[in-house]
Formats: sequence, structure tokens, C-alpha cells
Amino acid sequence: MFREDFPILKTKLIYFDNAATTLKPKTVIDAVSDYYTNYSSNSGRANYDIAIKTDKMITETRKKIADFINAKEDEIVFTSGATASLNMVIWGYLYQHLKEGDEILTTKAEHSSLLAPLIEMAKLKNIKIKYIELDKNNHFDLNNFKKTITNKTKAVCLAMSTNLVGDVRPIKEIIEIAKTKNIVNIIDTAQSIGRNNIDVLELDVDFMAFSGHKMFGPTGVGVLFGKEVMLKGVKPQNYGGGMALEIDEHDNVIYKKVPYLLEGGTLPIASIIGLSKAIDQIKKVSPKDIKKIEEELTSYLLKRLKEIPEVYVYNSNTQTGIVAFNYENIFAEDLAYYLSKQNIAIRAGNHCVKKIFDLYQINNVCRISLSFYNTKKEIDALIKALKNTKIKEDIIF
Ligand code: ALA
Repeated sequence: MFREDFPILKTKLIYFDNAATTLKPKTVIDAVSDYYTNYSSNSGRANYDIAIKTDKMITETRKKIADFINAKEDEIVFTSGATASLNMVIWGYLYQHLKEGDEILTTKAEHSSLLAPLIEMAKLKNIKIKYIELDKNNHFDLNNFKKTITNKTKAVCLAMSTNLVGDVRPIKEIIEIAKTKNIVNIIDTAQSIGRNNIDVLELDVDFMAFSGHKMFGPTGVGVLFGKEVMLKGVKPQNYGGGMALEIDEHDNVIYKKVPYLLEGGTLPIASIIGLSKAIDQIKKVSPKDIKKIEEELTSYLLKRLKEIPEVYVYNSNTQTGIVAFNYENIFAEDLAYYLSKQNIAIRAGNHCVKKIFDLYQINNVCRISLSFYNTKKEIDALIKALKNTKIKEDIIF
């Protein structure tokens, strides 16, 4: 019913790589094009008509995002993506406030955008990263979390839902436990935003990161939400235009307040404007229905994959549209290439989960990630391609 909103779906493409990036509706594409065509100008720097319009669009989008997650406008920092948001908080907050010997909790199922900066920051400050043991399905385990906390634990950094295991973490309970011990929480919602109603106030989130392009918006834009008091403790990592007010003769600098303090340089304006339309698209369907459709499609996919004895599913307990699998004696990347020849796009590899071997005892898996615009008919086409009795001969090695 909403497929017609996405121009690329008018082609033969069957797109099953929504965890990598989602497709873009025409409203998003048109908004980006409209900005470049009709009012291309910088923001926060000029007072001619088209620049004033650009400022208005940025302000409105900041407000729309804030409302969408129940935050205040000044708690929304525009970044270039979830990776930039996570780096901003890891280097700008944790690096500044934690000390040698402190401990940070995370898991082995996290994406590199969280784990890589965390590891590098921890090495520089002699901070210990502790991995919370996952359960037998590689899902988060609250008891293990509680057991891993010590009086040195200062932060917990986690995805709300993971990009390979597909589990949905009990974030509210995690934060409640963390709060009783004064542990800062940093939540990566790149895979969850748009599929869930996220209320930062109700969850009591300290910091939350997400990207525009995984919520039907353009690439190049992301958000760091930070509770006002926490955001004020973030040291800018990007000094430049737009964030400084004055530099006097002694080089004393007067800076703007957050969030502008953390937005040095020209913003990804076109992408921010496009992101506003992406939120409209999500609201048009509703996060609740997006989730429901994804769940129905996932059950159908899992049921149909069971018809193929050569297919091994690694995460049959998935709680999102993410299904990881391999086909007996076919290398994951080869299978993905074979499917692409039939217009079916899936991702294969380690999916930026570099500790994948600890989870699945293998380094490469195929991953299907569904979205609300996928259909059972598309899943049938995938199953047909996987049931091809000449599949191995058809794969060119
Ligand atoms: N994080 C993206 C994925 O899981 C790129 O594919």
C-alpha cells in the first residue's frame, strides 16, 4: 500500500538490505532536489530570503526530530550519521570524564561504529571494556548485565536492537539498573528508530545516536540526542564556523551553547531537509505498523526458509526483520552475488560486527533485512531462487 511512495520499487529490484540503508520515498528525494534547485544556501550565517528559508527548514526539522523522540529542541545535535554521533559522545564525553581503571560495559554483538571508537578511546585512557555475556541466542541478558557491573563501571554502551542478531534489548530495564549505580548510558538506535516509538524521556536515555539513511532519509545526516545536562558536558570535536561567537585579541573564544556548539562547520543541509520528510513518511505508516508488518514478513520468511534443508538460519529467534543464514557449501558472498543476478539484494559478510565469530563461529553470513515495503511475493521469489536445483552450477566461482 505504501510501495508506490518509493520510486525505486517501480523497478524489478527486490531489496532485502534495509539494515544497511533503507530506500527513500519520493517526498524525501523531491525535498532534497527542491533545496538544491530553489533555495540552495548556507544556514545560520546570512539574512537574505533563501538563507532565511533554509534556517527555517533546519529549525523545523530539529523540532520535528525532538517531538518524534520526545526530546527538547536543544537536545538534538545534527551530525553526519550514527558513527559521527557515537564518536562525538565517546571522545567528547567518555574520554573527557572517565579515568584510568574505569570500566565500560558493552557486548560482542555491537556494530563497529560503537565498538571501534570505544576500543580506541579505552586504550588511550587505560579504561577497561567489559563484554556482558550474551545468552545462548546471543541476546542480551539482564542478569549477566547486573553481574558484570562493579563499582568501577562508569558507562554502558549498547545498540537498542542489533544489526546482525536482530534482538531487541530491554533498554528501559537496562537504564533503570544503570541509573541506580550512576552509570551513563549511550544507546545506538540506528536499527530501531522508525520501527519503534522511542521516548527518550520515558526511557531516561543519556545519549542516543541514529542516522537518517536507515529511517528512509538521505545519507550524510545523523543525530546525537543528549539529555541537556549531559550534552553540556560534551567537548566539541569539531571546532569551526558556526559554533564560535567571538575571538578577542587574546584569543579567548566565546562559544555558542549546545547544540550549536557541537555543530561546527556547514551542516548537511539538504539531508536534514530530506530527513524531515522521512519522519513524515514514518508517521504516515506509523512506527507501530512498520514493526508489525516487519514481524509478519519475518515469520513468513523464517517459515519458508525451513523448506530448504541446505539453509541454516543463525538467528531464528530474531525479534526484528533481520535474518542471518548460510547455504550449505556456498560461500556467503557468492550466494549474495547469485541472488543479485536475479535482482535480489541481500548483504553478505561480517556486517561490521567484527566479533561475529564469537557469536556464530563463522566469519561470513548472508543477511536479509526486511522493511515494511517488502512483500510475501518478494520472499517467494527469494525462496524460488534458493530452491533452484542447479544453484551451485549457476554460481560462477
Ligand atoms: N550498519 C549497516 C549494516 O548493518 C551498514 O549493514
